[in-house]
Amino acid sequence: MIHDNESSNLSKNRPFEDVLEARMSRRGILARGAALSATGFFAAIASNQVLARGARAATAQGASNGTSVGVGDTLIAQVFEQPGGVVNFEAIPISEGSGPDANISPDYNFEVLIPWGASLQPTGTSYEGDPNSRPTADQQAQQIGIGHDGMHFFPIDGSNEHGVIAINHEFGTNFHLVGIGDGGNAEQVQTLEQTRLSQNGHGVSVIEVRKINGTWQNVASDKNRRITVNTPVTFSGPAAGHPLLQTPIGNNPQGTVNNCSNGKTPWGTYLTCEENFNGYFGATGEWTPTASQERYGFSETGFNYGWYNHDPRFDLSNTSYRNEENRFGWVVEIDPMNPSQTPVKRTALGRMKHENAELVVNPRNRVVVYMGDDQRFDYIYRFVSAGNYQQMIRQGRSPLDEGILYVGQFRPSGRVYWLPLTMDNPVLRENFANQAEILINTRIAADLVGATPMDRPEWVSVAPNDRGDVFISLTNNSQRTQSDRANPLAPNPDGHILWIRGKNHIKAVNRWDVLIRSVETHGEGDERNFSDPDGIMIDSDGRLFIQTDGGQQQELNNQMLVADLSNLRPNARENRINRDQMDIRRMFTGPAGCEVTGITTTPDRRTMFINVQHPGDGDPSLTSFPAPFGSGRIPRDSTIVITKKDGGIIGS
Ligand code: FEO
Ligand code: CA
Ligand code: CA
Ligand code: CA
Repeated sequence: MIHDNESSNLSKNRPFEDVLEARMSRRGILARGAALSATGFFAAIASNQVLARGARAATAQGASNGTSVGVGDTLIAQVFEQPGGVVNFEAIPISEGSGPDANISPDYNFEVLIPWGASLQPTGTSYEGDPNSRPTADQQAQQIGIGHDGMHFFPIDGSNEHGVIAINHEFGTNFHLVGIGDGGNAEQVQTLEQTRLSQNGHGVSVIEVRKINGTWQNVASDKNRRITVNTPVTFSGPAAGHPLLQTPIGNNPQGTVNNCSNGKTPWGTYLTCEENFNGYFGATGEWTPTASQERYGFSETGFNYGWYNHDPRFDLSNTSYRNEENRFGWVVEIDPMNPSQTPVKRTALGRMKHENAELVVNPRNRVVVYMGDDQRFDYIYRFVSAGNYQQMIRQGRSPLDEGILYVGQFRPSGRVYWLPLTMDNPVLRENFANQAEILINTRIAADLVGATPMDRPEWVSVAPNDRGDVFISLTNNSQRTQSDRANPLAPNPDGHILWIRGKNHIKAVNRWDVLIRSVETHGEGDERNFSDPDGIMIDSDGRLFIQTDGGQQQELNNQMLVADLSNLRPNARENRINRDQMDIRRMFTGPAGCEVTGITTTPDRRTMFINVQHPGDGDPSLTSFPAPFGSGRIPRDSTIVITKKDGGIIGS
């Protein structure tokens, strides 16, 4: 989504590009003039071990809350040993990755599943892109939404051909979804019916799918449901019941919106993440933003959807609904197998513009959740549950309700310090009355403890390996414009992917480095190029799937590539690859105007589901995907089912 480009962070915290620059400069000194081009990336990591010896006394500010400080970690474990590489398919050349239609590697096939407008139940009414009409609000409530983003496939009885998909519908513009204006949200919704249509196009779908006679389709099921901004929800965790989550009119909490990416839990539930929730609010009358509203980017017209003119919940100037906006910006837990479950907003995970929620279990059996706040100069977070998650569940407690939320401080030394956002910190005690206030104003708390402003953290993906590699996509770093000797790749407007050695997600201090800088690593024209990494997923063989959202080089459409990290070693002496040699292949390119996002597989990893979001931005002169170009049909967001022609694991 494009609205994350502005910054609302007025703190003086050191921005990540400064840290990066300082870190790169330090490497330059440590490398004593050694060329940083071909082998510098890994050589620099070895140099940092030298640096580490001088820094052992360092401790994280307030990092004593139950986690040990990891200074002096040895960087040795090798996990993905796969001689010969694990990415061997024939790549789509850059020259073939543009135009109105999607492309896939010649070694793969794809089919389209659950496009926007498909009826939840096969017997219902579907919208198929008729340019002269749109669904009614009531029809849309019984159809797949628009803006397909994060999703997860939950197998039924472990099947590779039958399961339930929970899928986010991040957004649809008034032009695309409602059919008004001349692009984007040029025109606000004019009626309550249009408001409800827009609202019903957003949210989440849960839908049972099955491969029948070789083709995936959604099937009749009592599990099929839509969750929208008008669905009843509940709050849980430390902020539940707090006055800041209650309105003077006393309306019950309802709904979820701008559901971007996702997570999933070992107990079988789906996590949907609320990102640009501020954009749906506005003011019909006099309104002066509070400091909190400013920090979360609320404004008089929001993103110009116009809901606030017809639905008072979204009107910031309507004092009866004061605090309604605090009910958004959360991670929401949904049971995909129980259609009568009320979605639960887990306040312990903080309130921000959540991109995704990558959940892992550490060796102490605690649940650890990594999360990015996608706005320029916002932060990366880590939540750790209070106890053994299985024990907590047995006791009837949710591991997502009790625990500590940390924010990342990235230092030039190559360490990230996870700083707890709790009342134990005197700075936070001075500014907040209780933990609930900290969580409702997570961004402000993170400003106060000195978190590092990042360049739009999008997805986090944790490798299923015993070292706990954490990968984070930072979609761009355009403000770093000065290159120097130690920074030969600056500026870096196309983003990069960060790599944290998670040390099993126990240590309060971890090592970090840059895995790859999107375009600059390989130079313009290189077949491995990509810009604006967004969705990422690392599989258990060391394949990193990279999905893009932004202007690509050479007019390429947005895409999904696969990088081979199977021989990635954090220790220079054992290093077998470097960034320059990194094998990255283009597997899929979307139709014009779309972004590629969302990723999940069947248990055997031989079927993958990804999403094409906002194809053509709704304009049939660019694409009618999935209908043939030239048909005049309105393009529809769609799930893409990918299989390998030889039946192999996806990415191989
Ligand atoms: Fe919804 Fe930051 O992408
Ligand atoms: Ca998006
Ligand atoms: Ca995204
Ligand atoms: Ca994005």
